[in-house]
Amino acid sequence: MPGRIPQDFINDLIDRSDIVEVISSRIQIKKAGREYKACCPFHGEKTASFTVSPEKGFYHCFGCGAHGTVVGFLMEHDRLEFVEAIEELAALNGVDVPREEGKAPGTPTTPLFDLLEKAANLYCEQLRDNPAAIEYLKSRGLDGNTTNHFRIGFAPAGWDFLLKRFGSDEAGRDRLLKTGLVLRNEEGRVYDRFRDRIMFPIRDSRGRTVGFGGRVMDNTEPKYLNSPETPVFHKGRELYGLFEARRANRNLDRLLVVEGYMDVVALARHGITTAVATLGTATTPDHLQRLFRASNEIVFCFDGDRAGSEAAWRALQVTLPELREGRQVRFLFLADGQDPDSMVNEIGPEAFLRLVEDSQPLSDYLLEHLKAETDLASIDGQARLAELARPLVNRIPEGVYRELLLERLAAEVGLSAERLARLLSDPGAAPAERPQTRIRASQRVSYGRPGPVRQAITLALHQPATASVIRVPEGFDELDQPGLQLLRDLLATAEDNPDIKPARLAEQLSEHPDGGSHLTKLLTQELPLDEESDWAAQLQDTLDSILHDDLERRFAELTDKANHGLTDAEKAEFRELQAQIAGPRSKAS
Ligand code: UTP
Ligand code: MN
Repeated sequence: MPGRIPQDFINDLIDRSDIVEVISSRIQIKKAGREYKACCPFHGEKTASFTVSPEKGFYHCFGCGAHGTVVGFLMEHDRLEFVEAIEELAALNGVDVPREEGKAPGTPTTPLFDLLEKAANLYCEQLRDNPAAIEYLKSRGLDGNTTNHFRIGFAPAGWDFLLKRFGSDEAGRDRLLKTGLVLRNEEGRVYDRFRDRIMFPIRDSRGRTVGFGGRVMDNTEPKYLNSPETPVFHKGRELYGLFEARRANRNLDRLLVVEGYMDVVALARHGITTAVATLGTATTPDHLQRLFRASNEIVFCFDGDRAGSEAAWRALQVTLPELREGRQVRFLFLADGQDPDSMVNEIGPEAFLRLVEDSQPLSDYLLEHLKAETDLASIDGQARLAELARPLVNRIPEGVYRELLLERLAAEVGLSAERLARLLSDPGAAPAERPQTRIRASQRVSYGRPGPVRQAITLALHQPATASVIRVPEGFDELDQPGLQLLRDLLATAEDNPDIKPARLAEQLSEHPDGGSHLTKLLTQELPLDEESDWAAQLQDTLDSILHDDLERRFAELTDKANHGLTDAEKAEFRELQAQIAGPRSKAS
């Protein structure tokens, strides 16, 4: 396995690539002013709401909210993994992808993949020689074809099946340990992890075996053992059966997400070859992204019990940021005590697929869940529903999908969509209209109303060159508000790279814990002023006013407290604030 691709190379490659050229070689686009327009390739539409901006190095669909850089486009459109997209882009530019030598963290991975592959083969061989294991698989309804398709195998009893073959020297044992196939106990003794178990190899998107799940054939505990996290296996990323599903289907119109290995395999045995399973963990954002890269329709199948409904609600929350027009997510709840394996064996594939067809759309499930927690007959109930819905709705990207959901939610609570949007955007808003009081910076963070922090972020993002011109006001670095750390880091990055393109700046900070993932969305917004605006002055004013708002808020707090008596330290702060507020203030307000 080659080392990491250097970040500098990726940055240069994105800068160098012509996003218009890449996109226009895949879909029809038309020039419209400084941008290009097209019918969005990611959702069905007749009017062109998909735009490409060569200046920003960015595409965006106003219909479904899809957006990203040229790399993102390749990943979505060609359904590529990140590294594959980089390789494709490099090929288009006629350059080779360099790899960092030796700097790859930890171990070189090629020997680990080789070892896992060999182990998988050995386990398959062992299955052929083990009538009890074959009998067990038969008793679970499996046939040879399915077993081969998933390369199901058998790890024989005994402590040293793999160890004997691959662990004769220190280096071999070391490699085995790194794959998680063997363990070392406290006394330093090394032994096979998987013993006397049916083995399910877990394969990555390229079909390489990266880990295993192993099931006992009786009632001993634990029922399943899984490979631990290793340099090549990450539970929060891999999906059991995805490689096999892709291989069995030219187009994956739909993916079923189930809970267990046996569910995936049993469904395939009945001809339903589109199921994948998370590996005994909750669904992660990584999973979701991989799922949607493979298909536009996802149906989660959960047990009807309490654990199942909790898992479903968690899955819904992780799904929200990935929602947009053209993507469908539904939930199938099975009867208590049933799982897809038992169900498909009992009712057969046709009836099972009918259940899938009739499963509950995400929006229905969401509304039903919220309604179950509120009494809609009361005014309080409406407010509470809005309260519960706010964090959920705000996770959905702006776009048609969110609008539609808001409309439905509004209808449920008997409010206009407008009024509901207001309720959702402002926690303090009473059902009656509030007088136009000055809203403080710290309250202006929720969606809908761009507060000064968001304004400053948008400005700095669109006009990175301004960062090296402005002066960060004194005291600014100590402020603590949502988004401010992102703003500070954005300014620092832009200052270091004044020529950076907005899309790349957004990408570089996309993992920032303080809301970095929202940056790409801000790229699609127009700046409020025209070309000739003095962006630097604008940004400067905004920074000043963020600081000033914060001082005022603190001042108001202390004034309020003063009625009940201040400590000496607070009195001193009070006087200082008074001086500061009266001081250099005048331009921002
Ligand atoms: P289940 O207990 O629902 O198992 O666990 P199952 O898939 O129905 O298995 P069968 O039908 O009894 O063979 C669902 C998933 O949770 C993880 C496994 O990934 C399993 O497929 N799990 C379960 C474990 O990792 N360890 C366990 O001991 C049990
Ligand atoms: Mn089961």
